[in-house]
Amino acid sequence: MNIQNQHYRTIWPSTGNLHEILIIDQRQLPHKFVIETLSCLDDAVTAIRDMHVRGAGLIGATAGFGMYLAAANHTGDDFDGCLQRAAKLLDASRPTARNLKWAVDRVLLAVGTGKSDEEKLQICFQTACDIADEDATFCKSLGQHGLEIIKKISKAKKGETVNLLTHCNAGWLAFVDYGSATAPIYAARDAGIDIHVWVDETRPWNQGAKLTAWELQQENIPCTLITDNAGGHLMQKGMVDMVIVGTDRTTHTGDVANKIGTYLKALAAKDNNIPFYVALPSSTFDWELDDGHKIPIEERSGKEITDVSGLTKDGNLATVRLTAPGTRTLNYSFDITPARLVTGLITERGVVEATREAIHALFPEK
Ligand code: MRU
Repeated sequence: MNIQNQHYRTIWPSTGNLHEILIIDQRQLPHKFVIETLSCLDDAVTAIRDMHVRGAGLIGATAGFGMYLAAANHTGDDFDGCLQRAAKLLDASRPTARNLKWAVDRVLLAVGTGKSDEEKLQICFQTACDIADEDATFCKSLGQHGLEIIKKISKAKKGETVNLLTHCNAGWLAFVDYGSATAPIYAARDAGIDIHVWVDETRPWNQGAKLTAWELQQENIPCTLITDNAGGHLMQKGMVDMVIVGTDRTTHTGDVANKIGTYLKALAAKDNNIPFYVALPSSTFDWELDDGHKIPIEERSGKEITDVSGLTKDGNLATVRLTAPGTRTLNYSFDITPARLVTGLITERGVVEATREAIHALFPEK
């Protein structure tokens, strides 16, 4: 992804000091572009829990590097115990995100082949780098599969603008590069297709307003910010051709956990005969759960609802309270869209129906 014409990934090891991992502090976007250094396991856990980094793939990549930082800072002789403790801390930091456990387990499995602590440390680093590289590669190829869907819509509309609607941020910022929901959008732009994106603001954390709109602007993709409640109305007026969202965890039966409010968009899309696609690298599949309603749904602080933050006239970031003191809140961060509302899943291996049979046919090794 380009920021002011310079290519960045969302996480990378420092070239000067391999014990330092660099991230973009997403809490400050779009107002300030701040690169933060993670030097130890605690830094990684805090970055994930407090949303300096966020989004399925990036949480996974940060967890991979978090395991490496735990190993790099370890002293004493219980190297394996140190990694087990790190795994527990990381696993607990964002409960809904599947990529987190997937990445932590991948590092633990790889480390099992190491003969010495030095070799294990090297394996941790290499596995974390592989997780990040693979995330970027998978997103790039799912973009090519999603492109075919957009091409068909464009053809049916005889080249008129294809209007996509997205919720939250399943963009480059939520992954290592390209994004999931945004990868087909970037591919369509590169293929010369006329596209426009409706961006849901995504209360309460405003990932759409703060991140997706900014990210698309950086890439010169025409986009318009709308309130979360506007989508149904736009669909009724024929202003949406396709909904495309990401996911934090998708069961192998096709139920989708994504940012709160996704389910309502899927219902409105169904009622208006609009295709509703979910884009995901296979690292986001949960191969154990059959029922989306068994996915743990993270509850976050009510402060995300009662307070809003932004830029003051003098250029500082500030937070103000929106509500009367003592207002009660309930802040579920995700909801479940049942498979029956999903037109298709766009993965790195192709587009597949959201059914157990189709998903397993595409990933037979699972
Ligand atoms: O709470 P977040 O910002 O980490 O939520 C993740 C998301 O951005 C969305 O749910 C997204 O659509 C799926 S992650 C690719």
